[in-house]
Amino acid sequence: MKNDDFILKEFINDAFNLKSHLIEFLSLEESDLEDFLRNAKMNLASLHPGDSLGEVSDFYEDIVGDRHLADLAAWHISSKDYIADTLRLQQRFSRDLVLDFGGGIGTHALANAMSSKVEHVFFVDINQTNRIFVEYRAKKLGVENKLTFCKTIQETEISKFDSIVCLDVLEHLPDPTSQLDIFYKIMDSKSVALFNWYFYKGENNEYPFHIDDNEIIEGFFKKLQLNFTEVFHPILITTRAYKKS
Ligand SMILES: C[S@@+](CC[C@H](N)C(=O)[O-])C[C@H]1O[C@@H](n2cnc3c(N)ncnc32)[C@H](O)[C@@H]1O
Repeated sequence: MKNDDFILKEFINDAFNLKSHLIEFLSLEESDLEDFLRNAKMNLASLHPGDSLGEVSDFYEDIVGDRHLADLAAWHISSKDYIADTLRLQQRFSRDLVLDFGGGIGTHALANAMSSKVEHVFFVDINQTNRIFVEYRAKKLGVENKLTFCKTIQETEISKFDSIVCLDVLEHLPDPTSQLDIFYKIMDSKSVALFNWYFYKGENNEYPFHIDDNEIIEGFFKKLQLNFTEVFHPILITTRAYKKS
């Protein structure tokens, strides 16, 4: 097991070897990688079905394929200071059984699996390509024994988690308020959940896949304030830590 500073350094160096994982997993030519990453966001936005909520989960489950890997990889590489701060934050709270809900390309799940404070990480993501890619990465990084890959929380068969990580996911769900109910049920009085949200489609519709409906957002904040109490942390990012109220 590695210490927290070492894990952070490894992320800042090469995002846990992300580029070489992408090249090998997607059978890309090394020379094509930068174009693949550069085009990712544009490709993903143009694929999205639009505002129809019913189609959002199909989008993440079936439609995005490899393109979401590229989109997330480009973001984690270009915004590594921000992502590193989210890793610092989870290092303060993660312990024992961890759920990473909507884990994407696995940065947070892999970092948690490297931590000696964490017993096991359950990586849940609706997108099969993401699950297979992160399982591949876990093997490459030698942490596969500390990770389990599931499509839903139910599949984990864990009734209580000590830590929940749900970063940049809530705005992608058709009903983020119900997701808070689900998290509430799988936490005990000492569990801590890390949540952030970005209920905004962007100035120029850069994020057509984000929920921005006022009624949904208001319901979400009411539920959050009713059922959860914020736990202070000093890191200057939008992600918040919560206990059950
Ligand atoms: C913007 S990404 C965030 C990934 C990661 N948490 C991060 O911070 O980089 C959103 C992720 O949520 C996943 N997702 C969307 N809807 C989901 C659902 N209903 N259940 C589980 N995962 C979901 C997507 O497949 C995607 O990997």
